[in-house]
Amino acid sequence: MREEIIKLLKKEGKLSNESIEEIQQIDIHDFANLVEEIGKEDTEYIKASEISKDMDTEYIGKNLYVYNEVKSTNTVAKFLAMNGAENGTVVISEKQTDARGRSGKSWESPLGGIWLSIILQPNVHYSKLPLITLATGVAVAKAIERTGITSSEIKWPNDIMLHGKKVCGILTEAVTKFNTIENVIIGVGIDANIDISDFPEELQDGTTTLADELGRKEDENTLIRIFLEEFEKISELFNNEGFEEILKEWRKRSYSIGKIVEVREPFNKNYDAYVLGISREGALVVEKIDGTLEKVISGECIIKN
Ligand code: BTN
Repeated sequence: MREEIIKLLKKEGKLSNESIEEIQQIDIHDFANLVEEIGKEDTEYIKASEISKDMDTEYIGKNLYVYNEVKSTNTVAKFLAMNGAENGTVVISEKQTDARGRSGKSWESPLGGIWLSIILQPNVHYSKLPLITLATGVAVAKAIERTGITSSEIKWPNDIMLHGKKVCGILTEAVTKFNTIENVIIGVGIDANIDISDFPEELQDGTTTLADELGRKEDENTLIRIFLEEFEKISELFNNEGFEEILKEWRKRSYSIGKIVEVREPFNKNYDAYVLGISREGALVVEKIDGTLEKVISGECIIKN
């Protein structure tokens, strides 16, 4: 994290006069104000003033930090969260150079996409965390629906799919202190106006963009505003224990239920199973070939049919 923050400050010309030795002696937490200061300036495409204009939220996105290029918005958000950032703070970057996906994968983040992280300080028990992930998927699906696309589906736990191709991924990371959750960092990557041919070949087939689906570019700032509004609505449901409603919205858009999948869980052998549904805790409920039922809490499910 230290390396990421120093790289950002150097790139933005905030550490040009100091020697490497001097920089190394500075406590990383002293950089928080500088990181916030840089993030208050608009970039060429992402404009905080446009996002905030008419934005109908109470706390999500009230603090917005915008960058030209970072390694990962999740890392910057985590740094700001550890340095007192408020509930609902949002970190956005035009590009990411070392973004993280789920299951330790990397995430392509060229210009034209929406790469953002939300700092959330939810007031719920640890066991409810998987539901935040599902809820975020619902918020993205609803935001996409507001652009006019009607075909959004959610592949467990929270990949957003359009006509069988992935358009958005979500990575949720918890910042804990003495075993309690202080902050949840919710990283969202939407392939909005990207040119798919910029992606590595092996990803091109399974990926789509909003621009390709809509036949036109979608304004990034408008889409961010719409998503943040949807996110606040669903996180309020979450805070008020409206878990059934979140699950209902998720199930309505499920891409996984009724399909045969290969389940890949950490520390477990892969197996094939039929997806029956989603449990109240947000686990995927599957039936194995031998008829036994399993709840999949983390990992991946590769669709086989
Ligand atoms: C996935 O593997 O599907 C999750 C991808 C999550 C990507 C987003 S982009 C913004 C945030 N910063 C990151 O480094 N990752 C997330």
